[in-house]
Order: sequence, then C-alpha cells, then structure tokens
Amino acid sequence: MSKVTVVGAGNVGATVANVLAHKDIVNEVVLLDIKGNFAKGKALDTWQQAPIDYYSTKTIGTDKYKDTANSDIVVITAGIPRKPGMSRDDLISTNAKIVTSVTKEILKHSKNPIIIIVSNPLDVMTYAAYKASKLNPKRVFGMAGILDTARYRAFLATALKVSPKDIQAVLMGGHGDTMVPLPRYTTVGGIPVLEMIDKKKLNAIVERTKKGGGELVKLMGTSAWYAPGAAAAQMVESIIKDENRIFPCCAWLTGQYGLRNMYLGVPVKLGKDGITEILKLDLNKTEMKGLKKSAEAVKGVMNTFKKMKIK
Ligand code: NAI
Ligand code: 2OP
Repeated sequence: MSKVTVVGAGNVGATVANVLAHKDIVNEVVLLDIKGNFAKGKALDTWQQAPIDYYSTKTIGTDKYKDTANSDIVVITAGIPRKPGMSRDDLISTNAKIVTSVTKEILKHSKNPIIIIVSNPLDVMTYAAYKASKLNPKRVFGMAGILDTARYRAFLATALKVSPKDIQAVLMGGHGDTMVPLPRYTTVGGIPVLEMIDKKKLNAIVERTKKGGGELVKLMGTSAWYAPGAAAAQMVESIIKDENRIFPCCAWLTGQYGLRNMYLGVPVKLGKDGITEILKLDLNKTEMKGLKKSAEAVKGVMNTFKKMKIK
C-alpha cells in the first residue's frame, strides 16, 4: 500500500495528482486544500478519467488532515503563485506561514513521511518545512531543478531540431534568476552540447532558462503548472520505485560545494529513503562562482524568513 498526499489542489497540485494517477504506481492520492470542495472536485474529475486512461490509483479530495494519515510521501504546493511583476521571493510573507502550518498538520497524522516542497520561494520554503517537520533532511527536499533543466532541455531541443528525449542536462543553484545551467554537463544523444551549437546561441538559451518561470507568468498572468506538476510526480516515481534516479533537487547541504546549513539545488540520487546521495561535480571556477552567487541570493531570502520568527 502506498499513499501520497498533495497539499494545495490548485494548478500545480491538481496536476501532480493527475500525472501521478496516470503513472498508476501508488494506491491512493489524497488532494487536500483549504477549499475542500475544490479539492474534492479535482480528485473526482481525475478518478473519472481512470476508466478512459486505464489506471487504478484512487484520488480523494479533502480539507481534513485526518484523511492524509499514514502518507508515505507528501507534496506541498499550497500557497500563492506569483503574478506579473512579482519575483518568487515576494511570496515569502504569505507562503512561509502556509508551508509551516501545513507541515505541522501533516506530521500530526503521518510519522515519517518524505516531504517534497513545491511552494515558492522554493529553497527557503523547503527550509521552512524542514524546520517545522524536524525530519531527517534526507526526507525533506524541494522540486525546482527538474523543471528548470526541463525548460533548458526544451529550448535546446527546439534550437537543435532534435527530440527533447535526447537531451540530458544538469543545473544547479537556487530556483531563481541566479540558477546555474551547466553546458559542460549537457549532452545531446551522448554528444557534448558545446559541439552541437555555437556559444552565442547557447548563452541566449541559458539566459532564457534563468528567466523561464517569468516568461510563463508574463504569458499567463500566473505561474506554470504542467511541467512543474510533472516534475514533482517524477520525483515521487523515483522514490516509490526506489529507482535512485539522478535529478537536480533542492537539498540540505552539509559542506558539499563549500556550502552548509542551507537548501540549494544540487544533483542527487532519489530512492525509497529520499535523497540517498548528493553528487559532487568537479565545477570549474566560473561555475563555482555562479553557484556561490546563487547561494548568497538564497541566504538573503533565508534571513528574511528567519526574521519572521514563525512558530
Ligand atoms: P494556485 O493558486 O493555483 O494553487 C494554490 C492552492 O493552495 C490553492 O488552491 C489554495 O487554496 C491552496 N492553499 C492556500 N493555502 C492553503 C493551506 N493553508 N492549506 C491548503 N491549501 C492551501 O497556485 P499554483 O499555481 O498551484 O502554485 C502553487 C505554488 O507553487 C506557488 O507558490 C508557486 O509559486 C509554486 N510553484 C513552484 C514551482 C517550482 O518549480 N518549485 C513551479 C510552479 C509553481
Ligand atoms: C516557475 O518556475 C513560478 O517557480 C515557478 O514556473
């Protein structure tokens, strides 16, 4: 029996539940939202899709935490998304309180779940959940890197006229404009990307990736949900199947890359116990400089969070 709870039945949360149901890898997905009927409706709609798309995962909507009891994995998407003109960091005053209270409620009903944070500002909301949960940090981490690399890979696929399936990449740092895409660690069908595209075009793609979230906010008036939802569901899959897949995730650092006591995007292995390993890449000077700059930006938002003194 495996059970996954998704908190927040909005754009991203409902997509996580729907994609997860399609994977047919867990028995039950509970979708919880303060808007209970909204969660019930999204869950029922996804259940009614089951006979068409052939899956057995039950989807249940609720506003009651007792229904989340004994969850193996909890994905937290609750909170407000950004509107045009806002940065992810502008969301902290609202979302920090939501993520803290949601985490505490979850822990009353599930003893030792794995928690995946999606709410923004991502790196600091993951820290907030870690603090509120007091769980082993290997079991509390954030989704951003899979989405950010997916954007980078999609842009490259378009530019190179190849299938996105053939592009492998890694990206590090915080989920913000300081993120660090890594062309040296990007391949196209096994071929280093630097042999496939000229530097100027590649740099333009790197810059577009860094602002990839904002591009969608401008287009839609709110932030994205299909790729973010699929990314979180992919993390759940790697854990449920104990696949040990390598993904860039927002992880607790204890000295890796010279950074400690903070969450930041790094490549990890994801298995049944959560983060089973943080991979150490041999970054060059420029890459390391970018990572440190990104860490500084995240630390600035962490300080704002700490000053909030949320209990
Ligand atoms: P949305 O507004 O569509 O949904 C958010 C849902 O959270 C709403 O249904 C709301 O009722 C619910 N909610 C608010 N407070 C709650 C509480 N205390 N308990 C339970 N539910 C609560 O927003 P959307 O687009 O789904 O985005 C959700 C969050 O995910 C935002 O903070 C957004 O910035 C973030 N995000 C992060 C991404 C990432 O890469 N990490 C990508 C996309 C979005
Ligand atoms: C995104 O990158 C807003 O974090 C969200 O789409």
